[in-house]
Amino acid sequence: MSQPISFQYPERVRLAQTPTPLEKMERLSGKFGVDIYFKRDDYTGAELSGNKVRKLEFILQHALKLGADTVITCGGAQSNHCRATAFAAKRLGLKSVLLLRTPNPEQPPAAEGNILLDCLVGATIVWITPEQYQQRDQYFAWQAEQLVAAGACPYIIPEGGSNALGAWGYVSTVEELVDDMAQLDEPDSVPTTVISAVGSGGTTAGLVLGNKLFAAGFRVVGVNVCNDRDYFQQVIGNIMNDFQERYLEQSVATVADIEILDGYVGKGYALSRPQELDAIRDLARLEGVVLDPVYTGKAYYAMISELEKNPECFGSRIVFLHTGGLFGLFSIADQMAEVL
Ligand SMILES: Cc1ncc(COP(=O)(O)O)c(C=O)c1O
Repeated sequence: MSQPISFQYPERVRLAQTPTPLEKMERLSGKFGVDIYFKRDDYTGAELSGNKVRKLEFILQHALKLGADTVITCGGAQSNHCRATAFAAKRLGLKSVLLLRTPNPEQPPAAEGNILLDCLVGATIVWITPEQYQQRDQYFAWQAEQLVAAGACPYIIPEGGSNALGAWGYVSTVEELVDDMAQLDEPDSVPTTVISAVGSGGTTAGLVLGNKLFAAGFRVVGVNVCNDRDYFQQVIGNIMNDFQERYLEQSVATVADIEILDGYVGKGYALSRPQELDAIRDLARLEGVVLDPVYTGKAYYAMISELEKNPECFGSRIVFLHTGGLFGLFSIADQMAEVL
């Protein structure tokens, strides 16, 4: 059994309601004959709900320390990260500029779901095309130049808050999970698989690193909701390497520790198949828990599909990390209505 490794957390500003509860899904567990728990990171806050706020605690502390007054970040039109950033920034007295991706910036999507909240909190939204989004570093730089010219002090946050600093948010979640596990009836004897959605990679990077740093012994499985396994092994591997170079005296994790369950992107990023929406509906009716269509719904669908093939594939104890995203559901109300 490996030993925990000593390290120091960077400073953080408290924004998230943590620790979040670990809840057993009794009926779901009964259905598959394995213990399935949900780590309720959808309870990290209301406006701030989801996984992003854990990363933002570290990132925004850094922004404050540098004297920033405006944060700039980017994402898909219904980005949970952008919504959480805009609200967290406001809580700290900062302004936000969001670069949001849409096929035709002349005709942006309706102000529904996360976009409604972005508008409500007064974020400046800049709509850009998917092609422009590929060059987002350039757009970040332009926005920053304009802000500096206007006398502001901007701070750039990458897509999804997925960088080495943000990964600390999910290192600290592993610490929480180790405590959660210690409260269970058979704390140590049961191997645990932690399953979560992968969108920009920072959450999984933090989980993999935290698993090593706390010698938690979890199996960490990420379900990619876009791109593929090779892409994410590289992206997550880069975040982990950067983290280890910046913050640790020794390397604790390699690309071999990154397990991606590929094959569940379905129709593509933010596009849902009927069976995924059925799974969201069925879970709401079985356990009274709401998933989002873009991330948690896909990761959950992947998990139950694998369990249906082989109930033992993740061992006898699973922790499904519910990373939030609820507001995204309201932007597909028409599609959802078809399965109700
Ligand atoms: C609700 C939700 N779950 C999961 C993820 C994936 O997290 P990450 O971007 O850290 O891979 C995201 C963001 O992309 C998200 O908004």
